[in-house]
Amino acid sequence: MLVPSKDILLKGEEGGYAVGAFNAVNMETAQAIFAAAERERAPFLIQITQTTLGYTEPDELFAVIRALADRVTVPLAVHLDHGRSFEIVMRFLRLGMTSVMIDGSLQEDGKTPRTYEENIEVTRKVVEAAHAIGVTVEGEIGRLGIIEGAHEDHLTVPEEAKRFVEETGVDILAVAIGTTHGLYKGTPTIAHDRLAAIAKIVPVPLVMHGGTGVPDEAVRKAVELGIRKVNIDTQIRVAFYDAIAEQVHATEKEHTEAEAKGGVRKYDIRKLLSPARDAMIEAIAEKMRLFGAAGKA
Ligand code: G3H
Ligand code: ZN
Repeated sequence: MLVPSKDILLKGEEGGYAVGAFNAVNMETAQAIFAAAERERAPFLIQITQTTLGYTEPDELFAVIRALADRVTVPLAVHLDHGRSFEIVMRFLRLGMTSVMIDGSLQEDGKTPRTYEENIEVTRKVVEAAHAIGVTVEGEIGRLGIIEGAHEDHLTVPEEAKRFVEETGVDILAVAIGTTHGLYKGTPTIAHDRLAAIAKIVPVPLVMHGGTGVPDEAVRKAVELGIRKVNIDTQIRVAFYDAIAEQVHATEKEHTEAEAKGGVRKYDIRKLLSPARDAMIEAIAEKMRLFGAAGKA
């Protein structure tokens, strides 16, 4: 049941829970996300970043997601994560995404900040096009994912966020509340007071990026305060890596034993990837339960 992400997040708003948005880069990551959602009966978002370009053509990965979406029995949205320009967003929209993010806080290089006015301009342009075909738009204000920890001048300013939503028409808003992308050196400090101030005056569902490594209690409190979408990527990669490492080690042992008995080495990519897929399912399912989305489909 492929739907605009707004529909899924507004149900979270009513029910006081958040929905996980999980990054897919290939067939196995996509399969793991769908399998976890089906098992946990959880609505979810599956997302692709523009950095996937160059690793795979988006229509190839989208074809896999489309096939899985035709079979799944829980609501989902397919989302473009961190789109950096109007052109890139249009390219993914054409694929059939039901949700897109225009990350107008940074220029196309993904490093140089855009001005507030530039962010409004590019975001408004995307909203106009996407809304014409009923697609949900996520915008971003504040600077997250750069320096660890709640640096005051990087946090989202509530009044600016309110104006940003009014001037752009975005449906959901990513806010800077102290999270960053990837693993944290120490324990991240989430600016819950700032989040509460934002949620009080901003009338759209809020998004937490950089969900990996945020302590469960801090996530639960953020959901209580109004976070309705939590982005998870690195956690899935870690589960994959650890399982692959374990399998490679086990296979090397099998190879040594086989050769010791005069046998030959056997290679089966599925023997590596299948346990990795299972490990990703467990990591994703755990997050669906933490966010309160499990059993809400
Ligand atoms: O947009 C994707 C996320 O913000 C993922 O962050 O890799 O820290 O889980 P993460
Ligand atoms: Zn992100």
